[in-house]
Amino acid sequence: MTLPVAYRASLLDYTGDPSVDRGAVRHVDDGLLVVDGGKIVARGAAPELLPAFDGVPLVDYRGHLIVPGFIDAHIHYPQTAMIAAYGAQLLEWLENYTFPTEQRFEDEQYARASAEFFMQELFRNGTTSAVVLGTVHRQSADALASVATRAGARLILGKVLMDRHAPAALCDTAESAYDESRELIERWHGRDRLSYAITPRFAPTCSAEQLAAAARLHAEHPTTYVHTHLSENRNEIEWVHSLFPERANYTDVYDHFGLVGRRSVFAHGIHLSDGELELLARREATIAFCPTSNLFLGSGLFPYERVRAAGVSVALATDVGAGTSFSMLRTLSEAYKVLQLQGFSLSVHHGLYLATLGGAASLVLDSVIGNLEPGKEADFVVLDWDSTPLLALRSREARDFDDRLFALTMMADDRAVAHTYVAGRCAHSRK
Ligand code: GUN
Ligand code: ZN
Repeated sequence: MTLPVAYRASLLDYTGDPSVDRGAVRHVDDGLLVVDGGKIVARGAAPELLPAFDGVPLVDYRGHLIVPGFIDAHIHYPQTAMIAAYGAQLLEWLENYTFPTEQRFEDEQYARASAEFFMQELFRNGTTSAVVLGTVHRQSADALASVATRAGARLILGKVLMDRHAPAALCDTAESAYDESRELIERWHGRDRLSYAITPRFAPTCSAEQLAAAARLHAEHPTTYVHTHLSENRNEIEWVHSLFPERANYTDVYDHFGLVGRRSVFAHGIHLSDGELELLARREATIAFCPTSNLFLGSGLFPYERVRAAGVSVALATDVGAGTSFSMLRTLSEAYKVLQLQGFSLSVHHGLYLATLGGAASLVLDSVIGNLEPGKEADFVVLDWDSTPLLALRSREARDFDDRLFALTMMADDRAVAHTYVAGRCAHSRK
């Protein structure tokens, strides 16, 4: 037996893509969200709903905005401690910073402590779901999975597969990658709110045998995800062409092995040809757009309009530690600027849709998360409009709700996250 709790605040969520249907925006100025047993049981206007929930404990968040928990479609938890490392683009950055850091995850204690910090950092930023890479070590996935189940978060996670072009201490084999991933799938996939992603790091660090093993495992467990990197950096792409000369392009490498499908998430996808986009659209795969990472590593400007016009599903992601912030609000702000540089202004509602219901739909999770619909898991964030003096000023001066909201998404960060609720439980409150 659980007891319902009602939260009174402004509510904002989406029932679909607001760039397609403006009616998909649901904003209730004086709203009520009722939660019971980890699920949402009612949402709507407070004056209308309150009589029906007379006697139910009421938490008064008036003056705040409740939105669905943010969904980060691509993030590396082992790179938390090496975020913001100076002076290199992708391949040198991997050699100089990433691989040395990831070797520390052989130590289970270290992995566990890192996972704890990571989980709390997600919540501090209002992120309640994420698609997360571990390291090559199976204990990295075990550590994160056990921390996430205890915290109640909905994660899609996996151990990295890589059997070449990396330090020996970070290499598995095609066979051990298959065996260890299968073991992890059996232990974690579908347990509580966890799903497993088979996670070849990227084509340059995976032999053909390993990519084939990954695809075999995915075929044997079709509800798992495939999570990897694609077409991020020009030198990386050249390298893939030289390693797989028989394949038409980078995307075709993954497709040849059977790794491109509805549950495939490809980080970056900045430099794709029309043919590659057409293939990704046909297979219903998702690209994770990682603006702070793409800017930080100098990888390029994600051609959002072209990708969307090709019919490819896009989700939004931080890509920490190449990404420079855990905040999906910061990420939205950088996404806006990346698109401004290409003559396109991302609307505030479409941006927030990508960080919530759009991400959920890309990940085939929109029946359980992504908005505040009754029946869904109660993942939500209570945002403070006035978390800095400047935001408070801007908020007061706003012309209307959309203007106020846009300024919030351009300027806010973790300071604006007053509370984060995960399956109805308060997982973070700002001090
Ligand atoms: N490509 C292969 N590995 C990585 C990684 O760790 N980060 C990023 N941004 N790109 C990659
Ligand atoms: Zn990445």
